Amino acid sequence: MKKGFVFDLDGVITDTAKFHYIAWKNLAKHLGITIDEVFNESLKGISRMDSLDKILAHGHKENEYTLAEKEALAKNKNDDYVKLLADLSADDLLPGVRDFLVDAKAHNIPCAIASASKNAPMILEKLGVLDYFGHIVDPETLMKGKPDPEIFVKAAQSIGVAPKDAIGFEDAQAGIEGIKAAGMYAVGISTTEKLTGADLQVTSMTELSVEQLISI
Ligand code: G6P
Ligand code: MG
Repeated sequence: MKKGFVFDLDGVITDTAKFHYIAWKNLAKHLGITIDEVFNESLKGISRMDSLDKILAHGHKENEYTLAEKEALAKNKNDDYVKLLADLSADDLLPGVRDFLVDAKAHNIPCAIASASKNAPMILEKLGVLDYFGHIVDPETLMKGKPDPEIFVKAAQSIGVAPKDAIGFEDAQAGIEGIKAAGMYAVGISTTEKLTGADLQVTSMTELSVEQLISI
């Protein structure tokens, strides 16, 4: 029996991945670096500063900026990204998410968020689902990002569930690897990517049943 659910945010609860992509693409262009959707896949689940480092390395500009300059660039990207989220509402929940959360609550299954995004609380509030989560891991408290299991272990523990009794939901390869390394059951959600190592892969949460999952 599984006793708790741990969700990634971007690409699982809502499709903010497209807004991250627009904001990073704008910044990269400003720096004379071209990124495409294939490269963007490698940014999913990766923290803001690590994403910037990857983009700079992609453009062979990894040694051109000081830490203070990189922090300013990351802030510009985030300001752009937050502007793109201005109209985010409950309509932007991905298919099946609300029903799944309501059903989890009805079954007394606690839920937590394991996202590298520092914008997670604000986004969940705009989506109208903040109250469904017992805990949102603060990415500032982490030593290592995904694919390290730390964020998933912390998320499960925060809702009083041992990782082996928790199920993690992810859309990114780094996330699936983190969930598995944490000793949890991994559900991959993606219409485009084959998520290697996922115990189960679906194209949307509409295909999932709380009752079936907790009986695993
Ligand atoms: C998630 C997204 C990444 C993003 C990271 C940090 O993991 O998948 O694309 O870079 O969060 O998000 P933030 O909102 O803090 O910049
Ligand atoms: Mg994601």
